[in-house]
Amino acid sequence: MNDNLDKKILVVDDESEMRVALETTLKREGYQPVCVEDGKKAWERIQNENFDLIVSDVKMPKMDGVELLRAVKQHAPKTIVIMMTAYGDIDNAVETMKIGAFDYLLKPFSAEILVSSVNRAFMRSPENHTTPSAEPKAKIVPEREIITCNPELLKLLSFAEQIAYSKSTVLIIGETGTGKELFARLIHQCSPRADKPFVAINCAALPEGLLETEMFGHEKGAFTGADFRKEGKFELAHRGTLLLDEVTEMSLPLQAKLLRVLQEHEIDKVGGKESIPVDVRVIATSNRDIKKRIRENQFREDLYYRLNVVPLKISPLRERKEDIPLLAEHFLSMHCRENNKPVVSIDASTVTLLKKYNWPGNIRELGNIMERAALLCKEDTLLPPHLFFEDDAKMGDDPENKPLSNFRGTIHQMEKELILQTLEEQNGNKTRAAESLGISIRTLRNKLTEYQSKE
Ligand SMILES: Nc1ncnc2c1ncn2[C@@H]1O[C@H](COP(=O)(O)OP(=O)(O)OP(=O)(O)O)[C@@H](O)[C@H]1O
Ligand SMILES: [Mg+2]
Repeated sequence: MNDNLDKKILVVDDESEMRVALETTLKREGYQPVCVEDGKKAWERIQNENFDLIVSDVKMPKMDGVELLRAVKQHAPKTIVIMMTAYGDIDNAVETMKIGAFDYLLKPFSAEILVSSVNRAFMRSPENHTTPSAEPKAKIVPEREIITCNPELLKLLSFAEQIAYSKSTVLIIGETGTGKELFARLIHQCSPRADKPFVAINCAALPEGLLETEMFGHEKGAFTGADFRKEGKFELAHRGTLLLDEVTEMSLPLQAKLLRVLQEHEIDKVGGKESIPVDVRVIATSNRDIKKRIRENQFREDLYYRLNVVPLKISPLRERKEDIPLLAEHFLSMHCRENNKPVVSIDASTVTLLKKYNWPGNIRELGNIMERAALLCKEDTLLPPHLFFEDDAKMGDDPENKPLSNFRGTIHQMEKELILQTLEEQNGNKTRAAESLGISIRTLRNKLTEYQSKE
């Protein structure tokens, strides 16, 4: 008997991928969510139907999430609302809590975080007449493989697998986009904690006060607007793994608190009277020169030694160029498949160009370039003009084949532009446009409907 089936959840987000992801996650938990794409549509439904819980984005066209939250709290105050905000919108997050949101989830978040928040909401809800089903189940996110043929990185991989079994703290150092989080997830998955949560927190993204409540949680009434007890990431990661991303960006007072947690294995909630024991394996990452931060008195030396029990240093892509063709092929075929296009092969001249580039954004940047290339390439071979580098100045001196100009938009904007432009070239003939784009007519129709609904 699935109690979750009785709960009515409304999901509000203008991004279709996000809606699908939320719907899939909630359905897996046995809920039957209703999804709509903006605040106005949500408000129309709320006036005619009772929802137990609403998961809503903040930034949306027509009626934004804050307006919707206000309206819901007036119309049906018992409805639980969970807001989702991007990192840049912390002020909004605080505001929504004051208005009465139950929780805010900072995007991007994992399926576990959403499930945990929803389950907690129902456990606390006075309307809850059913017994919640034990602890929220931990989910293992299907992992992408770590691809490399670089001897140094291969050694690091087997080292990471070996140390995974222990509870030792790991410090992963590497430039942005080198795969630090991927390594952290690998360690978690190879560890005895694999079936418990993997929780990540980006220490650079939040101001000190919020970071503290995110990490350690707060008690009800700890400060104005704290209308409920919030669990921190340490509690959510209990018996699992906590990834402290960009740990060097943490303020000195918070570093002192973190040190205490690592030594005592207990946390102090904001406004709490007693310490709470936690069993968490901590993995920290940094893309900075930590020793320099220590010399500048910006990072505690004792914390560094506490974190650096197992050090892992991932080298930048420009120092392991042999990985470039492998990774390029991996990303290209992945994105071709995602776009229902036949898999494209990479011309030797393109590989030469890729190897000349300096890769300031490392593997993430290579992934982005291949995602755009997969959209652009209409032939069966990927050529240099299909590449858009994020920083052309980082190119070697004499690239024979200059890449195309500089599109600076998001992949979605680029895809939309490409589709609309092709449609115009084909005088509005959808069949020919789809053929020329290498996508099915159905995909083309869906994309056009999506663009119309967002206008
Ligand atoms: N060796 C690899 N094989 C396949 N994919 C990889 C590899 N390394 C990184 N990636 C992919 O590149 C992207 C960036 O990796 P990740 O997020 O782990 O980097 P990071 O070092 O944590 O970056 P940042 O410092 O910006 O947080 C991810 O999509 C990841 O899956
Ligand atoms: Mg990262």
